[in-house]
Amino acid sequence: MEKQEAENRINKLRLEIKRLRDLYHIQNAPSVTDDVYESLTRELKELLKKYPEFIDSNSYENRVAGKPLDKFEKVKHKNRMLSLNDVFSKEEVLDWDKRIKKLLPNNKHIEYFCEIKFDGLAVSLIYKNGKLAQGATRGDGFVGEDITENLKTINSIPLVLNSKGVIPEYIEVRGEALMSKKTLENLNKINKKEGQTLFANTRNAAAGSLRQLDPLLAKERNLDFYAYDIAEIKIKDSNIPIKTHKDKHSLLYDLNFNVGEYDKVCSSLEEIFDFINKFEKVRDSFPFGTDGIVISVNDLNLQGILGVVGKAPRYMAAFKYPAERATTIIKDIKVNVGRTGVLTPLAIFSPTLVAGSTVSKATLHNMDQIERLDIRIGDTVVIEKAGDVIPKVVEALIKMRTGKEKKFKMPSLCPVCKGIIKKKEVGNNKSGDSSVAFYCTNTKCKAKDERYLEHFISVFEIYEMGPKIIRRFKDEGLITDSADVFTLEKEDIASMERFGEKSAENIIKEIELKKKISLARFIWALGILHVGEETSRDLANHFKTLDKIKVAREEELNEIENIGGVVAKSVYDFFRDKDNIDFINKLEKNGVVILKAEGEKKGKFSGFNFVLTGTLSSMSREIAKEKIINLGGKVSGSVSKNTSFVLVGEDPGSKQKEAEKLGVKILKEEEFLRMIK
Ligand code: IVH
Repeated sequence: MEKQEAENRINKLRLEIKRLRDLYHIQNAPSVTDDVYESLTRELKELLKKYPEFIDSNSYENRVAGKPLDKFEKVKHKNRMLSLNDVFSKEEVLDWDKRIKKLLPNNKHIEYFCEIKFDGLAVSLIYKNGKLAQGATRGDGFVGEDITENLKTINSIPLVLNSKGVIPEYIEVRGEALMSKKTLENLNKINKKEGQTLFANTRNAAAGSLRQLDPLLAKERNLDFYAYDIAEIKIKDSNIPIKTHKDKHSLLYDLNFNVGEYDKVCSSLEEIFDFINKFEKVRDSFPFGTDGIVISVNDLNLQGILGVVGKAPRYMAAFKYPAERATTIIKDIKVNVGRTGVLTPLAIFSPTLVAGSTVSKATLHNMDQIERLDIRIGDTVVIEKAGDVIPKVVEALIKMRTGKEKKFKMPSLCPVCKGIIKKKEVGNNKSGDSSVAFYCTNTKCKAKDERYLEHFISVFEIYEMGPKIIRRFKDEGLITDSADVFTLEKEDIASMERFGEKSAENIIKEIELKKKISLARFIWALGILHVGEETSRDLANHFKTLDKIKVAREEELNEIENIGGVVAKSVYDFFRDKDNIDFINKLEKNGVVILKAEGEKKGKFSGFNFVLTGTLSSMSREIAKEKIINLGGKVSGSVSKNTSFVLVGEDPGSKQKEAEKLGVKILKEEEFLRMIK
């Protein structure tokens, strides 16, 4: 066969194999028998062996999905995967801009970068010498799951990087895995026909698809990928400039990734607002679900100065478009009992489409809200939903009333345990107005336990035990509290109706695997009032062991950065309650092992104490402090003989004099900048 002829044949074979595969996997309608398909594949392989110049690493035949997995392996992210802080209006964009300008050198002109915020699943892709080596989910930002095999089935993820320029030795690409609106529509049509549950939106569908253990199933879902960031890059050619966020996007584009076609550098706030307005007009007809606009400071140097606070970078903001609304009729108002015993009224209605999701419940927050909006059962109401959040009822259309609507009353007994319901005043909004919360007074209330159990089990990441299973285990008396989970035996479960050997084994295996837990997650799992994921991490980082947290004084807790009086008191009180201590002891007795928290950050400032005084010209004091801590140093408020350096800016206070008196080394800003380079 002539070379030209071979090339034509190869192209034809590729097209036909792809068509047959799609028929088989995506439309579930094979048009030829397996041996016909295999024979074509064999011919393609043989031709490529003879004419390797036509091998295309990114082509369809190289996206053969691997074997189904038993479970996804965990992977530690080399670079933490962050989240974004939201802004909900143009005023909030202005506030964000003011805040960051305060932290940057005076009168610095800032260039911004605007891009679409895709509504899918965050993914990290690592390429080594141009080859896709690993693809992972975000997880909790520190540890995700290895979903490489599934990601390989996405055609817009290059398996091998092609570029006209130099290929990086190492690159970590961040982006969003997505399902198009059209694909979701088709998928739901099929699911409906087959009596399966429908996906509420494109994000759930994309996430569900990537969580399939069988890559072939993931492949059927026809996902897409858009790249939006480079978390790390090593490249030999230093001529490739990566000085701005825009440069990152250009390089991603050159490496053959999809990048948002609306990306734009904006040199003023007006241009940002213009971008926001323009995209709003086409948002509905955009092929993918979107979640707003990401606004970044374009210059990577300035990004470095602004840094990260908590989970999110200061140099980026996620602009969210106003929530979408729809109307529906309230069929009933139910009451939910939360983990802390507080009752939340919930409006129930027929499935209603709003903001791209089908919903049948919306929160009414509390009794005050119901009275303020005068909401009754049977009312036609306006519901509102923005992005991820639970929809809420915002208005009753009083003109639509027929006279048959019924007023709602909070029950006087707990709907779950018949415990007595009491009212208490809570200060719960920004303006400090208080409202009334109703709560169940029974400390042994089953609903409280159940919510707590769900929280506990999800923090321990025992995925095999969903809420339904937890409820069954409780109802059947297998467990009474979360510590009992660790005493479950395979036989206990396997003998229950609807549980087989296999599912019992999976549950037990998973519990065994998750018995070892980091200190931060353990604290989070305890469900201490006001102590969420971030505060738990702060406590773990500060104290390193649970024993030290147990005996910490309230003032000591209060002194920790990011922990205020209310939180300190709550932590202190928690560890003074004998029931809580008994519970922790029971967990440890049942085999839970708390892993040691990592040591303090090590770096070139380890062992050095800094004191800051005066105004710095290149960055704010707050940022300088962060940099010191990140390099392992400590920052104190006053000079003593333990101080290693006093960093002095303009108009220093008395601290400079004290340093001179004690003979402590004084650092000028330029020296400091050289040290942190
Ligand atoms: S930049 C600091 N750009 O939004 C985190 N994120 O709310 C870097 N997302 O986890 C995010 N489109 O999954 C960025 N163009 C875009 C995005 C985007 C969607 C997602 C991403 C992230 C989440 C944060």
